[in-house]
Amino acid sequence: MGTESEHWNGVYRSKVPEDVSWHQSEPAMSLVALDRMGLGADASIVDVGGGASRLPAALLARGFRDITILDIAASALDAARERLGEARDEVDWQVADVTAWNPARTFDIWHDRAVFHFLTEQWQRDAYRKTLLQALKPGGTLIIATFALDGPERCSGLPVRRYDPEMLAAEFGPPFEIAGDWQEDHVTPWGSVQHFCWCAFRRTEAA
Ligand SMILES: C[S@@+](CC[C@H](N)C(=O)[O-])C[C@H]1O[C@@H](n2cnc3c(N)ncnc32)[C@H](O)[C@@H]1O
Repeated sequence: MGTESEHWNGVYRSKVPEDVSWHQSEPAMSLVALDRMGLGADASIVDVGGGASRLPAALLARGFRDITILDIAASALDAARERLGEARDEVDWQVADVTAWNPARTFDIWHDRAVFHFLTEQWQRDAYRKTLLQALKPGGTLIIATFALDGPERCSGLPVRRYDPEMLAAEFGPPFEIAGDWQEDHVTPWGSVQHFCWCAFRRTEAA
């Protein structure tokens, strides 16, 4: 892992989790997505680019017991583990670049909040989709949130690619069928509003 991991490790080493634009006190939309898709605690979930979010704590509180958090930045996962305290050992932590990850197992749910939109090169998105196909079970659910078309053009000093649901559907294509989409006005810790595009896809069959 090269400059991307250096960038993200630097971010999490120099800031507390509450001081990044993507911080949420509660992962509200992720939980809404699980509810809308009828997904309960018996499902296995991988959160790619999970950072130091509060999603693992919220999932454990809901009774999820098969939780994997992957991030390119070891420092992000250090912060996430510290936040979780004693429950840290109930989560599988993976340091990896999602575009180069070889998952050793499969999952019912793939969750991505604000990671795919950093993949501005076609080869990166192709590699992400390849990993997704390896990791997500047929019948599984992809939950993804990116900046919307009227969202910010950059995040954490990096350019992003913005999406609407049709663009995301075109990116993933068959065997992913869109099952729902919605918008979020995310309020950053310093009060600005960022428009997010959320989509849920069902994987209908093996690739
Ligand atoms: C904007 S943050 C979002 C963090 C988290 N999903 C949340 O909602 O709080 C993007 C995260 O993706 C991670 N990331 C960026 N590129 C990645 C990659 N290629 N593979 C895995 N993680 C990546 C970063 O380290 C960072 O934690």
